[in-house]
Amino acid sequence: MYQEPPTRKPVTVTTLAKMKRAGEKFAVLTAYDASFAALLEAAGVEVVLVGDSLGMVVQGQRTTVPVTLEDMIYHTRIVARGCGTALLMADMPFASYTTVDQAIYSAARLMQEGGAHIVKLEGGGWLAETVYQMSRHGIPVCAHLGLLPQSVHKLGGYKVQGREETAARQMMDEALALQEAGADVALVECIPAELAARLTEALTIPLIGIGAGAGCDAQVLVSYDMLGITPGRRPKFSKDFLSGRDSLQAAVEAYVRAVKSGEFPGPDHCIA
Ligand code: KIV
Repeated sequence: MYQEPPTRKPVTVTTLAKMKRAGEKFAVLTAYDASFAALLEAAGVEVVLVGDSLGMVVQGQRTTVPVTLEDMIYHTRIVARGCGTALLMADMPFASYTTVDQAIYSAARLMQEGGAHIVKLEGGGWLAETVYQMSRHGIPVCAHLGLLPQSVHKLGGYKVQGREETAARQMMDEALALQEAGADVALVECIPAELAARLTEALTIPLIGIGAGAGCDAQVLVSYDMLGITPGRRPKFSKDFLSGRDSLQAAVEAYVRAVKSGEFPGPDHCIA
């Protein structure tokens, strides 16, 4: 796919760390194909996430559980063709990191065959050894805490996490353990805004939030949700940025501006 020569330097995990230190927020959105990735890139999104949400919004599945490593490699590869300078993050799918060896194998395939720059896995302190070994092997990692959609059958639904003080304290300890193990970035999903703000303060690595209030270092949304494409009800924490705008590009640019200025998420998009 033809691309204009890049006008910004490639975004790396070091760039994101510097942005956190400077108090500069960054924008993350999901993409599942080259054209979408090029759109996000042109709008100034810093991190393009090939989320396993593709299971739901692209494949029409009920959860992310059926998404396979082959699916993730395929979508990461085609997204990579549309990306220029954005950091390309790919989800490790369900049960693709149950042991250290399997995690390194799956991440290596996402990086070598898909072109991912960083991989994201869902879990808490029990993944510290895995993250440590991945890190030692040169694999950048984003640790996804809070609501873990791959565990939906175990959790009994998509529920806000970390409401009670004990659970909040445990999440804080686990996030710090994953940072200590070598995670480069953390992401929290569906947790109280006040807990997310505490985590942002405590962590030295950047914290990306979804349904976690405005206190995080960055925000992520499923692009189909913020463009009003997802059928059915939009999650409360999301916002339709296309509404009232005349192009996809204008919608994504508005999202980037709103994240960077701290205007999104507003009080209407807080879940707890
Ligand atoms: O799969 C995905 O799109 C994600 C985001 C919702 C954070 O993990």
